[in-house]
Amino acid sequence: MATRWGICGAGKISHDFTVALKTLPAEHHEVVAVAARKLEDAQEFAKKHSIPRAYGGYEELARDPDIDVVYIGVIHPYHLKTCLLFTNAKKNVLCEKPLAMNSREVQEILASAKRNDVFLMEAIWTRFFPVSVEIRRLLAQGELGEAKMVRSEFGLPLAHVPRTVQKELGGGAVLDVGVYCLQFILMVYNGEKPECVQATGICRETGVDETVVVTLKFSKNRMAVFTCSSGIKLPNDAIVVGTKGTIQVPDHMWCPTSLVVNGKETQYPVPEPYLPLNFLNSTGMRYEAEEVRQSLLKGLKESSVMSHADSLLLAEVEDEIRRQVGVSYSQDCH
Ligand SMILES: NC(=O)c1ccc[n+]([C@@H]2O[C@H](COP(=O)([O-])OP(=O)(O)OC[C@H]3O[C@@H](n4cnc5c(N)ncnc54)[C@H](OP(=O)(O)O)[C@@H]3O)[C@@H](O)[C@H]2O)c1
Repeated sequence: MATRWGICGAGKISHDFTVALKTLPAEHHEVVAVAARKLEDAQEFAKKHSIPRAYGGYEELARDPDIDVVYIGVIHPYHLKTCLLFTNAKKNVLCEKPLAMNSREVQEILASAKRNDVFLMEAIWTRFFPVSVEIRRLLAQGELGEAKMVRSEFGLPLAHVPRTVQKELGGGAVLDVGVYCLQFILMVYNGEKPECVQATGICRETGVDETVVVTLKFSKNRMAVFTCSSGIKLPNDAIVVGTKGTIQVPDHMWCPTSLVVNGKETQYPVPEPYLPLNFLNSTGMRYEAEEVRQSLLKGLKESSVMSHADSLLLAEVEDEIRRQVGVSYSQDCH
């Protein structure tokens, strides 16, 4: 039986996610409803993607009994409220990154998912790409020896995108793009909490971080460094250096289609979309969608690849980075 998806929010990433779902077999994934704040937006989205039901309000989607899982594609200041709406309605949830504005909100979301006994995952899609699966395999099998240094970068000029610039829309490079660098580092070091985090950065006039450099020290003299920016395009690669070898994601490390292992490159292309996409390689969201399906089929409440503990650690380190750089949101004041 197909996993029946409901889409919350009719914006850019929801469009791309819906296109990605259609690259998977229809007997496995079906989009049955979409909700937007305005009914006409939901109706337009439904028409474009041939979705049977359109709702003008997220509550109606929460009341729909014929949905297995809701994909939350609204901007992050609204993740807490929408996650709670759906978890309290006993709906499984895949929520866009960052899961929330800070670790306090993340804890609230995770507690609600547990209390309501539903599946919940932060949509860190990168972790489910074949490139990431291969990186974890190489690390687990010791093919690099012991990983000692990780470096990652994600920077794009995004000043024209209001949600990355304006504080009340959740602006800031750490939450928008730095999350990808940090999740990569934490994946390589198996979800271990860093012993030391040092961050420095520059902020926009709006009070959100524009470019941030972070160094992290882990146990057993293992190190990492990442740079994120919403002001400039960076090389956007990622490197893991081990005692016996090196792996490199040569570009667009958040949606990787190529992996270089000790100098030898292998390509892992994503499928073509049936409609134009808003973001690069978005059909690669199919891999996280399939992880959700497999988890639901097994009756799991979280993914072992992107667990609740992983989301909490990400948020805690992001909080610390923002504290050092001097960025706080209204949500931090509760
Ligand atoms: N995985 C990825 O590669 C990726 C890429 C881009 C973004 N994202 C994440 O996805 C989320 C959405 O990003 P996006 O680029 O799709 O954003 P977007 O198109 O600007 O907005 C998405 C939706 O958020 C709601 N929204 C927007 N502004 C709002 C406001 N002022 N008040 C209340 N609701 C508002 C709207 O929902 P309605 O349609 O219901 O009105 C809108 O359609 C963000 O959290 C972002 O971090 C992930």
